[in-house]
This record gives sequence, structure tokens and C-alpha cells, in this order.
Amino acid sequence: MKKIIKNGTIVTAADTYKADILIENEKISLIGQDLSDPAAEVVDAKGHYIFPGSIDPHTHLEMPFGGTVSKDDFETGTIAAAHGGTTTVIDFCLTDKGKPLQDSIDQWHAKSRDKSVIDYSFHLMIGEMNETVLEQLPSVIEDEGITSFKVFMAYKNVFQADDGTLFRTLEEAKRLGALVMVHAENGDVIDHLVNKALKAGQTDPIYHALTRPPEVEGEATGRAAELTGLANSQLYVVHVTCEEAVEAIAKARKKGYNVMGETCPQYLVLDQSYMEKPNFEGAKYVWSPPLREKYHQEVLWKALKTGDLQTLGSDQCSFDFKGQKDLGKGDFTKIPNGGPIIEDRVSILFSEGVKKGRISLNEFVDITSTKIAKTFGLFPQKGTISVGADADLVIFDPNVERTISVETSHMAADYNPFEGMKVTGQPVSVLSRGDFVIKEKEFVGKLGKGNYLKRSRYGELTSSKEELYQK
Ligand code: URP
Ligand code: ZN
Ligand code: ZN
Ligand code: ZN
Repeated sequence: MKKIIKNGTIVTAADTYKADILIENEKISLIGQDLSDPAAEVVDAKGHYIFPGSIDPHTHLEMPFGGTVSKDDFETGTIAAAHGGTTTVIDFCLTDKGKPLQDSIDQWHAKSRDKSVIDYSFHLMIGEMNETVLEQLPSVIEDEGITSFKVFMAYKNVFQADDGTLFRTLEEAKRLGALVMVHAENGDVIDHLVNKALKAGQTDPIYHALTRPPEVEGEATGRAAELTGLANSQLYVVHVTCEEAVEAIAKARKKGYNVMGETCPQYLVLDQSYMEKPNFEGAKYVWSPPLREKYHQEVLWKALKTGDLQTLGSDQCSFDFKGQKDLGKGDFTKIPNGGPIIEDRVSILFSEGVKKGRISLNEFVDITSTKIAKTFGLFPQKGTISVGADADLVIFDPNVERTISVETSHMAADYNPFEGMKVTGQPVSVLSRGDFVIKEKEFVGKLGKGNYLKRSRYGELTSSKEELYQK
């Protein structure tokens, strides 16, 4: 059914203005003043902003990791995402060395297809580079529309790839039109520091942070950036946490290298001291890279403002405190890394960023949606409010106040790392391709309604504006 969203204030990465939006056949068909159509359902957005649906470029839903599987799957994870204003997620498809890439991709399709309530896409992990892998990459791009490859520089003996693999992936990505993503931490040095700590009986959660200091992140980020320059390729550094890594990215960008960076809400508002909470509660705050000393937060905020960091991901990878995080009692290396973030990512950036004057409203939209769509081959189908684009829209109340709590969260994990934090601003209703997924804060979507998105090659649009509208 057609819809008209009336009386709202449209906010894109470029503009803020009052206008009505007509939605037909899943797309925005008209934007204008005082629109009317007797066949259309009218949605009143008075007093609210209308944002393009947010895109979460970094999720790990139902992912086997650390001897367990992340708690939120494509059902609970995407429902929670939608509550938070996210209408597209890009999840990391893990691969196994020596096995066909397509097997892993099929596995990821199987766990998402009948569950996702919003549109979704995949990045593909590259764990090794050889002739067999090389032969498979063109079809990954062509047939699956997977145009971003992830290389882990950490998690030794699990996911970690060597520098040769990273460099060859950068070369191939350049040739084929894909983007390389890195988890940038020096896994070999961490491995050594971890062994030393365990030998000295240092087993509490805080040692997770102390054995992966900012220097190992800065070093790996700089190394990946230099290799990107050498390959004349393109790089996206996920979950940037610290000054050292921001400086490495800024230095590379100054040299003209195509290096981009993402940070996550947890690094903007939580710090290392949370990992010292008593009764093993510090485990709730174990991420890799770890939370940092507080002064790093302002460095990250500034980098979002200046553009040295471009995007905000959630790195959603949730585990229950009881039964999952506690696998690491007595040995911090066995604490599954990650947390439930997908639902609060957008609110936290709005509240701490826009409301506190650190970024503008339009920068907020760019960081949570537009830049991500452009970076990952989804623009202009996603990431903006314009005629011909998918009607992925968030009707957002900028003044409502709420306290984040596991009690009101839609994520599956048994705690929320932001428990007790007060935020201003919340999505009221969320539309995915013209249909409500969230209506007046209630989930009204349907399992499996989300489409798998094949993405364009790096730097290419999904289609021209004219083509988009003809479709
Ligand atoms: O601690 C984290 N970040 N868990 C998810 C996996 C990853 O490294 O992104
Ligand atoms: Zn990572
Ligand atoms: Zn991650
Ligand atoms: Zn309202």
C-alpha cells in the first residue's frame, strides 16, 4: 500500500528540510510539500526527524567464536537492530582454510534467509591466499555481490592471516573492485604478552586489556595502511579504539592512501576501568581490541568530526554473562570477545554526538548511514532519502529520554553493557522498503522479510538515479 509520511523534518547527510514523502512499491516515489493521495496511508511524523535507515556495517550474528556461538542470531539481532533504527546489516561470513568459500557463504545464507527482518548482506573473511582462493574470488563478487573482504591480523591460530595474505588480498581487491577490511592488532605480539601474563598468574578480565595495549593496534593499523599504499588499494579498518590507530589512519590519508576507519559506540563512551569490575563482571566488557583509557574517547570523537574516521559499526557479537562470558573465569583468554550493541548504536551516537554538540545532525546521518552505503556499494539504493531510493526510513523523536537497560532491550544477551546510561532520542517507527518493521516502538515486521543485498563493486553506485527510478 502507498504511504505518505507527513509533517516530518527530513535529514540527509547534506540537507535538513520539512517535506512529505510518498512511498510506492517499496521506494520513495516523491518528496514535496503538502502531498496527498487518497489511496495512501498517511503517517504523521510531526515533531520528528526522518532519517535514512541506518546501516550497520559490522555484525557477527550467530557466529561460532571462543568455544561458543554469539547469542543474537538473524532473528533477535535484526529485530533489535530495527528497534534501534537500523534497516540494513552487513554480517561477517567466516571461512575455513582449505574449504570452498561458497560453502561458507551458503552456510551464512542458511542461517539468515528465513530470519532476517531487515535487508542484509555479507562481508567475506579471507584467511589464506593461494591459487585456489584466487580462482573463487570473481564469482564471490559477481554471483554473491560480496565486495568486501575481511582479513584478521589478530587471533593467532584462529582467524589470523599473515602479511602475505593481507598484501595479496589488497592487490586482488584492487584488481577486482573490492574493499579490504582489517581487524588491526598485532596477533603475534599479543600472543607473547598473553602467555607471559598467564605464566605470572594474571588471569582476571583486566589482563585482556593489558595484554593488547594501544601500541599493538597502532602498529598493525600503520602496517596495513602502508601495505595498502604499496598495493595502491583500498582499506577499511574496523573497530578503531585508540589514538595510536587514529594517528596511523590520519597519516596514511595525508599521504593520499585510500584508508578509512570505523569506530563503535562502546569505545566512544566506555573505558578500560569497566574491565576491573568485581565478581568477574569485567568480562562483560571484553572486546578485541579492548576498551581504552578514557582520553582515547575524545580522540575518536574528533576523528569522526574531522573525517579521519568515517563510520560507526556496532561489532555486535553478544554473549550471555552467565554460561558464555563465564567460560573465562580463571583465564581471561577464554572469555568470548564481544557484546550486545546493535540496538543502541544509533541512539548513542545521536545522544552523545548530536545532542552534546560533538557532531552535526547531517554528520550523524553520514556516519551511521550515507558514508556506509557509499563505502560498501549500497548507494544510492540505501543510505539516503531521495526519489528512487528504497523506502528505508526512521521516524525519530529527538527529545524523548530513556535509560538503556537489559530489561527493555530486544537483544538476546542477559546484560547490556550500557546499563543505566541515559540517552536522548529514539526511533518511534521504522520502515524497511516501505513497510513498517517498528510501529510506535512495537515490532510489526516479519521473519524472513529482509532481502539479501548483492552489493556493487567498490566505488561504484548501485545504479544511476534514472535507472533506480525506472526499476
Ligand atoms: O571482541 C570482538 N570484537 N568480537 C567480535 C569479533 C571481532 O574481532 O570483531
Ligand atoms: Zn575484530
Ligand atoms: Zn567484529
Ligand atoms: Zn512521538
